[in-house]
Amino acid sequence: MAHSNLRVSKAIINIVNLKKNYLNLRRKANGSKVIAVVKADAYGHGMEIVVKALNSLGSKKPEYYAVALADEGADLRKLKISQPILVFDTVSKDNVHQYFYYKLIPNIFNLYHLKILENYRKRLNRRESSIKFPVHIEIDTGMNRLGIDYNKAFDFIKKLSEHTHFFVDGIYTHFATSDEKDNSFARLQLKRFKQLVDSLKKHNINYGFAHAANSGAVINYPDSYFDMIRPGISLYGYYPSQNTTESVTLYPVMSIETEVGTIKTIYPGDTVSYGRRYKAKKQTKIISLPLGYADGFNRNLTNKAKAIINGKIYNQVGTVTMDRIMFEVGNDKISIGDKVILLGKQKNLQITAWDWSNILNTIPYEITCAINKRMPRVVKN
Ligand SMILES: Cc1ncc(COP(=O)(O)O)c(C=O)c1O
Repeated sequence: MAHSNLRVSKAIINIVNLKKNYLNLRRKANGSKVIAVVKADAYGHGMEIVVKALNSLGSKKPEYYAVALADEGADLRKLKISQPILVFDTVSKDNVHQYFYYKLIPNIFNLYHLKILENYRKRLNRRESSIKFPVHIEIDTGMNRLGIDYNKAFDFIKKLSEHTHFFVDGIYTHFATSDEKDNSFARLQLKRFKQLVDSLKKHNINYGFAHAANSGAVINYPDSYFDMIRPGISLYGYYPSQNTTESVTLYPVMSIETEVGTIKTIYPGDTVSYGRRYKAKKQTKIISLPLGYADGFNRNLTNKAKAIINGKIYNQVGTVTMDRIMFEVGNDKISIGDKVILLGKQKNLQITAWDWSNILNTIPYEITCAINKRMPRVVKN
């Protein structure tokens, strides 16, 4: 299906805010390089829009990009992105060719995945196979998701650093709790990673760039910056939790806007939408807006979400449907075509992804990622 920017419901991507967030994080990183995390279509913001905006920053543009999947790395290369691209996923027999073809950096932390790379490399012609291939090694310091155990990492990194066909371009770890108030576990992870880095240094083992800091760590742990920082959510204007300090100023990048689609009057006792979950107590006007759960406006926002129309906040009413939602506007003067802000700011009023997250018991990451592809992303300069 072709998606057209003519649709009145849109995700507006404010690239001025994106650049401000990025530059604030970069300044905070105090000389460390930046790996901009743009996986999952840049957390739903549109990877193309985001990388074009960040790459317009000249000498300050990100030194690296990171994605979750080799497919996403391929998409970046198709956009003519020339920076190194790290893929967090593990290599598989099915996708290994993408790493070579698109020059993507694999995350290697065991012999199984290394073997897949080696087997593929053998099939390349002499010229291609003579080039040493970069890898990053993930170190598991306590997340227990991906990576080699921190206490086994030294030998693995040493072995790979002596490999004839691969070189260690980087080593990294990932924090489980860098955005939490209790800093004890993040401190432990950091200590484990730092000890490893120190002993590699001491033994003159070339490990490339060390990196650890996701958004929470950029905000809370300046001693976690090492050679590069690796922020995701903060680029898009959100703190990773409501427990971090606000040591970096951030501005939400995504707004969701639409227009009043229809208006009708209902009377006491009348109900709205499937299951009749909203009942009017008095005569009121109900407007409908052309978006729904198929666009990422979660059905559990039913009777809880808010909207800003002409400088005033209104309540969503009736079950959220696939393509349409309703709001109660009382007797206010509202017309078809009036602008409606579901996520975003107007004068001193603001609705953020935290407002949705708090209703849905989730985090802004999931809110912006869930905005469906059929909502056009429109750049705001
Ligand atoms: C390995 C890794 N590094 C960095 C990030 C960025 O994290 P955040 O969005 O919390 O900054 C992620 C995202 O989950 C990740 O998986």
